[in-house]
Amino acid sequence: MSEEKRYEHIKIEKVADSNYAVIIINRPDKLNALQNQTLREIAESLQSMDTDQDIRCVVLRGTKEFTKKRAFSAGADLSDRGSGDLDPDNLRHQSHAMYRRQKYYDLIEEFPKPLIAAIDGYALGGGFELVLVCDISIASKRSIFGFPEIQRGIFPANGGTQRLIRNLGKMRVKRMMFFGEHYTAEQMFEWGVISFVVDDDNFEDFVHERATWLGSAATNSLFLIKKSIDYGTQIPLRIGLQFEQMGYAINSRSKDVTEGVSAFLEKRKPKFQGK
Ligand code: COA
Repeated sequence: MSEEKRYEHIKIEKVADSNYAVIIINRPDKLNALQNQTLREIAESLQSMDTDQDIRCVVLRGTKEFTKKRAFSAGADLSDRGSGDLDPDNLRHQSHAMYRRQKYYDLIEEFPKPLIAAIDGYALGGGFELVLVCDISIASKRSIFGFPEIQRGIFPANGGTQRLIRNLGKMRVKRMMFFGEHYTAEQMFEWGVISFVVDDDNFEDFVHERATWLGSAATNSLFLIKKSIDYGTQIPLRIGLQFEQMGYAINSRSKDVTEGVSAFLEKRKPKFQGK
């Protein structure tokens, strides 16, 4: 049985010529709402892509074949009753349930290659939190963002309060989470939460172009840049700078460094192998 067949909530596509893969959240009837299984499948598929030399970038997106509304993901699946082994009336169990769920977000965030969130439609709650564990986010203009949890009496605990405050000031984070309103892609771009906002008609081409670029770039350098930036927000400057120096030293052993510098001196385009 091929690996892809194990998945029920996601689909995988490989764009072989461009060295990237696409993980498609495929629950259109629920606007790609996330159950633990959905997150587990995303995390597991990324783990198998980690060691696949032909995949040097991954795009995470919602299905193009939407049945109701376009969505990256409308957040946690509100119809899901949760795990049977945990008592919904036990506070300790409920806290542990979030611990389990956060672990999937952590695994996704730790993926060592570039991970692009391609958003065309709703990215709400846990769906927005999924965007926050990606490296680059590309949104179509028609996309809608927000943290509606408060309107259901719940709270964005898939890393939302903690990761967003590292992207935005607290007044904006609280504005979003206290009122649970929807925001446009352009607003999110202006605030610096997403990397690119593109015209709806140009969305697919733009995602392909950026994924292709990352899929043929120097993969080891991208890995070190990613880790330096992600961990750099969590450690003191001196340690961060030391981390950078060691990263530079490690990267200098990459074949792609030789290729990149030689290509420049020889006035030709580099052909990075991701090694
Ligand atoms: N969990 C489970 N099902 C969801 C869902 C979610 N988070 N979000 C949407 N759906 C389902 C709806 O129940 C509906 O199913 P139905 O057609 O079988 O009734 C379908 O997706 C379409 O949603 P609907 O609400 O009819 O579409 P809409 O265009 O009126 O509104 C949203 C779209 C996204 C604004 C609205 O669905 C919404 O607010 N969803 C919940 C978002 C949320 O609270 N996320 C955080 C959860 S912690």
